[in-house]
Amino acid sequence: MKPRTELFILALGLILVCPAVSRYDPNWKSLDSRPLPQWYDDAKFGIFLHWGVYSVPSYLGAWFWEEWQESHNKDIIEFMRKNYRPDFTYADFAADFTAEFYNPDQWADIFKAAGARYVVLTSKHHEGFCNWPSKVSFNWNSMDVGPKRDLVGDLAAALRKKSIHVGLYHSLFEFFHPLFLQDQANNFATQDFVRSKTLPELYELVNWYKPDVIWSDGDWMVQDTYWNSTHFLAWLYNDSPVKDTVVTNDRWGNTTTCLHGGFLTCTDRYTPKVLVKRKFENANTMDKYYWAYRRDITLSDVHTMDELTEMLITTVSCGGNLLLNVGPTKDGRIVPIFEERLRQMGQWLGVNGEAIYETKPWRYQNDTYNPYVWYTSKKSTNGTTVYALLLEWPDNDLLLQSPQTTSNTKVTLLGYNGDLKWKAKSPTGMVINIPTIPFNKMPSQWAWTFKLENLLNQ
Ligand SMILES: *[C@@H]1O[C@H](CO)[C@@H](O)[C@H](O)[C@H]1NC(C)=O
Ligand SMILES: *[C@@H]1O[C@H](CO)[C@@H](O)[C@H](O)[C@H]1NC(C)=O
Ligand SMILES: *[C@@H]1O[C@H](CO)[C@@H](O)[C@H](O)[C@H]1NC(C)=O
Ligand SMILES: *[C@@H]1O[C@H](CO)[C@@H](O)[C@H](O)[C@H]1NC(C)=O
Repeated sequence: MKPRTELFILALGLILVCPAVSRYDPNWKSLDSRPLPQWYDDAKFGIFLHWGVYSVPSYLGAWFWEEWQESHNKDIIEFMRKNYRPDFTYADFAADFTAEFYNPDQWADIFKAAGARYVVLTSKHHEGFCNWPSKVSFNWNSMDVGPKRDLVGDLAAALRKKSIHVGLYHSLFEFFHPLFLQDQANNFATQDFVRSKTLPELYELVNWYKPDVIWSDGDWMVQDTYWNSTHFLAWLYNDSPVKDTVVTNDRWGNTTTCLHGGFLTCTDRYTPKVLVKRKFENANTMDKYYWAYRRDITLSDVHTMDELTEMLITTVSCGGNLLLNVGPTKDGRIVPIFEERLRQMGQWLGVNGEAIYETKPWRYQNDTYNPYVWYTSKKSTNGTTVYALLLEWPDNDLLLQSPQTTSNTKVTLLGYNGDLKWKAKSPTGMVINIPTIPFNKMPSQWAWTFKLENLLNQ
């Protein structure tokens, strides 16, 4: 072959082999075709933080302002009457959002110890207060009033030092912004609020803080076309500084949730308990009822470790990630009960993380016989390893219906030395002999992982 011909064939080959650099168009078909960056599916567990001016009254949650002024919640009206002077406004709370004990390195240390691979902070909730010095939120941001500090930037830096992915929640709408109310009065035929507030904020957040998650919310009153969502996302995926790493959720307009976007969040505390074909996230709360910290929380309002490990296991086994929310206090603390639960989650993951991180759903999610068993799996060169995660410690034998054994099947318990004895069960399944383990030698306290290798071609 003459060199010229070779070059020609090489050039032709390159044209045929290399796909055109993919650009996304501002429509859902194109945007939905973007593969989700792998880090997110591998991560499985993140922490959600709801922190804002509502953390000052710290009573009845992040909707305090709306419930007081719009829904006329009797408890809030009474609370204000009893505790504040008559002309006190919601904006007056901001000065007391002091954050004097905010130590982002200490937070990052807790989140790392919890085994979280990403953290999502409310950059701005529906009240409109920006936790960063936004140029489009004069006098209603954490640098101008309250903390006098860039809460977002300081947390992002601390998380990155610990290799935790940085995520930012952002509310598209605001309860009482005059421009939003004006657009709404025009039946959303005008987009003044979006043009001068929502979009500039999103561009600031992406360009300044380079988040790996944009967790959008506050979309539900109006279509995605009003929010210009597909245009923003096309820029985010094509040209933004995080185009290769960023993941987004599905809350981009009143017909997108649970259908379009990056991962699906569907409803708050989405817990399908069956396999979901697309990647989803269960955004759930450590406080059973509220997202923001509230001073009247009681011990029984806090999910137990049994409940939290079950939440994580059932979510991951169905293909989801768990984003577990804790609300910091107005002075910048993660209260000890939340810190303890987070550190215990990390202890549990220290032993059982192999069955959580980087796993895939198995062909069965829960055992057909034993309702306390949920499965995950991992492929390697040796075949598929199946993890049976158990929510209740069995008395003597553990009967599993779903796994099909071979003569080479090997059963171990994560955190425990040695192979476990087992027998095949006919026509399908297996019985694992549970060893007697002294209480102080138990590998974990809240749920246990049986690792099954060399099963029948599953
Ligand atoms: C929506 O995005 C497009 C493309 O970037 C832009 O031309 C248009 O002005 C945007 N609309 C608003 C309201 O910002
Ligand atoms: C979405 O919002 C628009 C504007 O408020 C409304 O006209 C439309 O009916 C809503 N659609 C759904 C499915 O809620
Ligand atoms: C578990 O598996 C059984 C049998 O396949 C099924 O009927 C049940 O709905 C599943 N889900 C839960 C949450 O138990
Ligand atoms: C595959 O099996 C061999 C022999 O049991 C083991 O040493 C090796 O770690 C396994 N590899 C993986 C990726 O699990």
